[in-house]
Amino acid sequence: MTAADAVAIRATGVVKTFGGLKAVDVERIVIPKGRITALIGPNGAGKTTFFNLLSGFDKVDSGTIELDGEDITGMPPHRLAAKGMVRTFQLTKVLSKMSTLENLKLGALGQRGENFFVALFRGLWADQEAAIERRADALLERFNLGHMRDEFAGTMSGGQRKLLELARAMMTDPQVIMLDEPMAGVNPALAQSLLEPIKSLRDEGRTVVFVEHNMDVVREIADRVIVMSEGRVIAEGTPEEIRTNRAVVDAYLGTHRGTESDGGGAQ
Ligand SMILES: Nc1ncnc2c1ncn2[C@@H]1O[C@H](COP(=O)(O)OP(=O)(O)OP(=O)(O)O)[C@@H](O)[C@H]1O
Ligand SMILES: [Mg+2]
Repeated sequence: MTAADAVAIRATGVVKTFGGLKAVDVERIVIPKGRITALIGPNGAGKTTFFNLLSGFDKVDSGTIELDGEDITGMPPHRLAAKGMVRTFQLTKVLSKMSTLENLKLGALGQRGENFFVALFRGLWADQEAAIERRADALLERFNLGHMRDEFAGTMSGGQRKLLELARAMMTDPQVIMLDEPMAGVNPALAQSLLEPIKSLRDEGRTVVFVEHNMDVVREIADRVIVMSEGRVIAEGTPEEIRTNRAVVDAYLGTHRGTESDGGGAQ
């Protein structure tokens, strides 16, 4: 974060405890606008919990979260989606028994939960459906999923599901996109095909925050890295600064698991 960068998200004094465990204890985090920020840290560091707090899927015990200078603490996900902030999940939430296109259309409603999606899918939204479908088709083409349009999403590969989630998150034209392990479960040889789509979001001026364990990926696409360990931010900087940071190396010793996700912790 340089002085010239505008702020997309600011978290101040954010604490979340589970039982006696301080899962998140962040004094201050600033996410720059229009850049790709990687959130890294060992398993159980609190990355997903922090994502849940930022995106309204969980409530802070204390502290404040701001989006574009507005206090959004405690706002539910669908209101945040309306304000331009969406997230994807560490474990994909693709609905296997719906087509790729239908999965995408559900994204137009913002993040209200699947039951809500399905209930309102037809009816209330029928008049807007043509416009929604045009946007969905454009996104399917953009993310190379056009050929999967009418297939059950359950037939997709891991990489395609991740692309579908990305496309679905884009349905509301968000300015801030948070991706929890966008490469998890994807064959490393195919992970490369997910990098360009993520970079393209930044190149359109969007703010991207992503959780990732693979440092090669982080180095390749992140402008900025925030490192968490045991709920706290232990380092921030460019990928190069982080690579040689002693506290980061110490935090990872004996706990770094490489590139695979085991899907542990809160999803
Ligand atoms: N709903 C919950 N109830 C109780 N404990 C939780 C809950 N969610 C997370 N935790 C605990 O909080 C800590 C942080 O978990 P979190 O899932 O945020 O870590 P993470 O950095 O995302 O890890 P990973 O890299 O494995 O995804 C862990 O000790 C975890 O067990
Ligand atoms: Mg996690």
